[in-house]
Amino acid sequence: MPVTLSPVDGAQLDARTDFLAVAAAVYRDDAGWAPASEHVIAARAEDAAAGRIQMHGFVASAGGRPVARAAAIIEPDAVTTDGRPEGWIGLFECVRGEDEAGMGVLGACAQWLRERGREAISAPRVDALVSGLVTSGFDESQVVFTPYNPDYYPDIFAAAGFTTTTRMHAYRFDAATAPHIRVPPRLGAGVRGVRLDDWDGELARLHAFQEAAFGGHVARLSRGLGATDLLARRLVPVLDPDLCLIAEDRHGATVGFLLCLPDAWQSRPKGASPRRARLVSIGVAPTWRGKGAALAMGATLEKRLLDKGFESLEASWILSDNERPRTLVRALGGSATRSCAVYELAD
Ligand SMILES: CC(C)(COP(=O)(O)OP(=O)(O)OC[C@H]1O[C@@H](n2cnc3c(N)ncnc32)[C@H](O)[C@@H]1OP(=O)(O)O)[C@@H](O)C(=O)NCCC(=O)NCCS
Repeated sequence: MPVTLSPVDGAQLDARTDFLAVAAAVYRDDAGWAPASEHVIAARAEDAAAGRIQMHGFVASAGGRPVARAAAIIEPDAVTTDGRPEGWIGLFECVRGEDEAGMGVLGACAQWLRERGREAISAPRVDALVSGLVTSGFDESQVVFTPYNPDYYPDIFAAAGFTTTTRMHAYRFDAATAPHIRVPPRLGAGVRGVRLDDWDGELARLHAFQEAAFGGHVARLSRGLGATDLLARRLVPVLDPDLCLIAEDRHGATVGFLLCLPDAWQSRPKGASPRRARLVSIGVAPTWRGKGAALAMGATLEKRLLDKGFESLEASWILSDNERPRTLVRALGGSATRSCAVYELAD
């Protein structure tokens, strides 16, 4: 069946029924997929309409039916570690057996990015939160702001010339087997939930802390305070301030930060709260590492999750070469569940 490619204006992506129809077809009988994950399309379309990013989509159709889609994204600040301008490809979906169409939309996105001076191409990447293609653990459900895809997607990426640059892993903790966490008694730091009523103060503290703890990391886009503000405001609708923790020393200086979100994407009866949570990020100031600050935040989080009736927690994602957090989650009894990968397209 011949494949036809249609371009889609990025600012219109969330309104294009053919773009949305591809995911609906792929996941028609798949209860693990979270339909709410499509909301990221509207958020990126809004960014494109506001001129914060450039975005352009492609839909491939076969026999008049949309069977594959992807979007090329230019974040103005995205560069590789050696300073080359980087473009992203995200929102990829492809109906089983339509590999040619899948490769077609990936190729069209790559060409669109190259025509705009992007020397490096990284995929799948949608925004500062959502990136990666699931490469194992396909039977695990999608969790808030994480990717989800069928097992044949990695083969399509490989056939289209993409190679893996980053591997990441997810670990699950269950309430029934919650670990006993021993916090060092003389830690010298306390843990509190974020104060949403002191937005500017908390934002400035956390932005400075995140830049110091994670800045320059390969899987993370360095961003200004304004971009952190925008990202944080997007999290507010799904945020529980009790689960977003700050560790402070005796002088009130931030020494650690932990972001855990209720899994707002979990399918559940109307009006019911999520029973799953996701530990999105944990960081401790370099001079404080190895003293128990992560354990202190972990112990507070564990108690609050159990008190609120959460049944499980996915800690995701931890880079495969980031030994310290991997050792810590394994020591605490977390079981490896899913892996994902970010790819690059060679020139
Ligand atoms: C990962 C990171 C948060 C760990 O923070 P940390 O404060 O150094 O960790 P802690 O000292 O609280 O805990 C680690 C110790 O707890 C021990 N531990 C494990 N399980 C335990 C338990 N049930 N009870 C008590 N101690 C335990 C570990 O063995 C480890 O001991 P060690 O230092 O002697 O090896 C920190 O290294 C960091 O910020 N890294 C950079 C950011 C990052 O990579 N984050 C993860 C990806 S999002």
